[in-house]
Amino acid sequence: MGPSGSGKTTLLNIISTIDQPTKGRVIIDGREIDRLKEKELALFRRDMIGFVFQEFNLLDNMTIRDNIALPLTLNNRKPEEILRKVRELTALFGIDDQLDKYPYQLSGGQKQRAAVCRALVNDPKILFADEPTGALDSRAASELLACFQNVRNKYGTTVVMVTHDATAASYCDRVLFLKDGMISGKLETNGNSEEFFKKILNMVALLGGERD
Ligand SMILES: Nc1ncnc2c1ncn2[C@@H]1O[C@H](COP(=O)(O)OP(=O)(O)OP(=O)(O)O)[C@@H](O)[C@H]1O
Ligand SMILES: [Mg+2]
Repeated sequence: MGPSGSGKTTLLNIISTIDQPTKGRVIIDGREIDRLKEKELALFRRDMIGFVFQEFNLLDNMTIRDNIALPLTLNNRKPEEILRKVRELTALFGIDDQLDKYPYQLSGGQKQRAAVCRALVNDPKILFADEPTGALDSRAASELLACFQNVRNKYGTTVVMVTHDATAASYCDRVLFLKDGMISGKLETNGNSEEFFKKILNMVALLGGERD
């Protein structure tokens, strides 16, 4: 969390190798990823990370099934294996009855859950999400966040999320606060999400200027 311009997207893009740092190091799972060569970096991206954007970025002229399967199709996996994985994930996200539809036929929340399924189809160790609930109403947002928790519990995926919303943040285990490109505060949950929500609100008030 942090005010607009504090560096949240920059941080996410650097950790997820979308951007390169001008200085400093990025170490994930003991590996210095800013030093990886192009081939190693491609494998790192394929095996380690998934990315979800605020605006979904689904391909309009493909069905939901094909959108989600795309990363596996590009990796030349077997069709049965691809379909099994798509079914498993979409069932977890409650969109397994939407597979034959096109993105324009889905609600915002369904589209975002499809985008998350696509990001997870390669079994990444870390899922990055930049304001994933930013374009959703509160009900769709809480459905998505519950799905993130299911994914964490079922696959052990780490979800790293940027959010402006204290409710969304209260679903997390840990919240880091950024200000002017630096970490200005940290909070960890004790498992009670209501208490955590209040602590987050207090921290936001203390650090000032959450909203843009
Ligand atoms: N490619 C870039 N080169 C130089 N400066 C950049 C670049 N991208 C962003 N910045 C600057 O870095 C700072 C952090 O931007 P960033 O997009 O990370 O903020 P943010 O916390 O994600 O904000 P928001 O909540 O509005 O999305 C801003 O001052 C921005 O203008
Ligand atoms: Mg941003």
